[in-house]
Amino acid sequence: MGDLAVHGRAGQRRPIEHAPSLPPLVGDYEARRRSFSWEAAGAWLQGDGEGHLNMAHEAVDRHAEGELADTVAIRFLARTAPTTELTYAQLRDQSDIVATALRRLDIGPGDGVCTLLPRSPELYLTVLGTLKAGAVYCPLFPAFGPEPVLERLRLGHIRVLVTDTPSYLRKVEPHRDSLPDLRHVLLTDAEAAEGGDGAGGPPGTMPWSVALGAGAAAYDPDTFTVAPTRPDDPALLHFTSGTTGKPKGAVHVHEAILAHHVTAEFALDLRPGDIYWCTADPGWVTGTSYGILGPLSCGVTIVTDAADFDARRWYRILQDEGVTVFYTAPTALRMLMRTGVGLAHEHAFPALRHVVSVGEPLNPEAVLWGVEAFGLPVHDTWWQTETGAIMVSNFPGMPVRPGSMGRPVPGVVAAVLGQGADGRAEVTDGHVRVLGPDEVGELALRPGWPSMFRSYLDDPDRYARAFADGWYLSGDLARIDADGYVWFIGRADDVIKSAGHLIGPFEVESALMEHPAVAEVGVIGKPDPLAGEIVKAFVTLKVGHEPTPALARELIAFGRHRLGSVAPREIAFDQALPHTRSGKVMRRLLRARELGLPEGDLSTVERPAADGPEVRP
Ligand code: WT7
Repeated sequence: MGDLAVHGRAGQRRPIEHAPSLPPLVGDYEARRRSFSWEAAGAWLQGDGEGHLNMAHEAVDRHAEGELADTVAIRFLARTAPTTELTYAQLRDQSDIVATALRRLDIGPGDGVCTLLPRSPELYLTVLGTLKAGAVYCPLFPAFGPEPVLERLRLGHIRVLVTDTPSYLRKVEPHRDSLPDLRHVLLTDAEAAEGGDGAGGPPGTMPWSVALGAGAAAYDPDTFTVAPTRPDDPALLHFTSGTTGKPKGAVHVHEAILAHHVTAEFALDLRPGDIYWCTADPGWVTGTSYGILGPLSCGVTIVTDAADFDARRWYRILQDEGVTVFYTAPTALRMLMRTGVGLAHEHAFPALRHVVSVGEPLNPEAVLWGVEAFGLPVHDTWWQTETGAIMVSNFPGMPVRPGSMGRPVPGVVAAVLGQGADGRAEVTDGHVRVLGPDEVGELALRPGWPSMFRSYLDDPDRYARAFADGWYLSGDLARIDADGYVWFIGRADDVIKSAGHLIGPFEVESALMEHPAVAEVGVIGKPDPLAGEIVKAFVTLKVGHEPTPALARELIAFGRHRLGSVAPREIAFDQALPHTRSGKVMRRLLRARELGLPEGDLSTVERPAADGPEVRP
């Protein structure tokens, strides 16, 4: 079992191989893959001996009860305030208290708890406390405007929101009447009123400190029990974006922690002693799977920073904190690259073992820039909100092929399926076509890993449509080479990826349609050197409105106010948008025109000749 050394069981640190040419693929990856089974890996889980399993216990309490009790679990770097820390034992106790506080508010199994917070101790404690109470945690991205926030609170039937006063007053309070399920709003920055009974802050809210105080008073470490959740009880709800209609709520269950753990160990090479920094916001799945749960399950010290991107600050954190594994995104790497390699060289990163990327295509230049800046090739990883954990990755010891995302992680079977006219996998008589090496089609996975989403909330039809012939269909186009490396081609649908965040075009279009001047909108992703894509909106106006630059600016501000950071950054006025026969705006034709791609070519990709696009005059 020499293969286990690659992820450090033997305490061995392998030099990282960098081979843009094609070396023979033998050794650790193959051996590990062959010998892997989820069943055997499941021996890592502690459970309670009676068939129950709780993510928060597996991530934190198991360490709090062992050798890592006094190891720092999370270091919170703040913009200006001093750095604070929580050890594994403290994280256990304080999340027990949050769970107790939630229980006192009558929150229990199945209830939804959301955060709308920057990276702060309250956020991490809410995640763990929610799981310990048996409730379901759902993160909200703090840069969302009121519309995405309200929509997700409604769709998720959320009962508790933890946020701060400014976010509450601007994004939630004006529409509180339309949120009948929302029972409690806890404000992290509100003070308890003098001599009061716990009130304070705006009506209908409660200071976090008051809720926690009640939890602390009722907490008894000797009798406290983590909710006895079953492996397939819901634990996490992550909203993701589709091309049409509402955001989709992907539901993940407690046993997902096994996949978080195994992949954090395998793809990120995490182990006790590591100082690990994941720059993804906890409002997105990367920020929970690999910003919180996976790394804690590996017993590392997590570094988290509340400040926004700043190249100098980031290099200083990598250096001064002694970060050993750094998980980030192509947009961030491109922003670092922009400042030049000189700035990197003003710092030293002797502890840094891996720089790993996720979320968008990683340009080969960025992989090689990693070698220049850090002495390490950047490792790519691929996965989705739905998969819950890394599915395809490079890993220590495996030769990197710049431009490829790596190979399926052990326990995951991937294939590329033949496309139909709509760009998605073609299903004929219930069967798909599995393509051969280097053929382009829809990337698909065989279900069976523990972090696979178990439903789209309240939408069984949509869930059913995500599968065909025993495969989960990813919606991405890819090819797999003869050695099993997976190469990303693009998305098969119209979902936009900007700065690592999926944006549903329909959600953006619906918000802009509320402006009185707007008759119709089509939204596309426009390639952008930094963000990968930015949102561009094509707008037709109602009679009586003129397409002026002032109106374009007004629409951008209108979008920004409602949607927050997922709003369009460019507006173009169009006299008539192209439609399909069924009347939908043809976003892909808009995109082809924007990019100067031949429209004819596009229509053959888009639809069969017999059902070709019909462009209205
Ligand atoms: C979509 C999933 C990645 C987990 C968090 C975001 C794109 C993801 C890569 C990559 C090219 C990538 C895909 C995928 N994507 N990783 N390494 N190279 N594209 O999850 O928000 O559900 O986004 O992100 O299009 O389907 P998500």
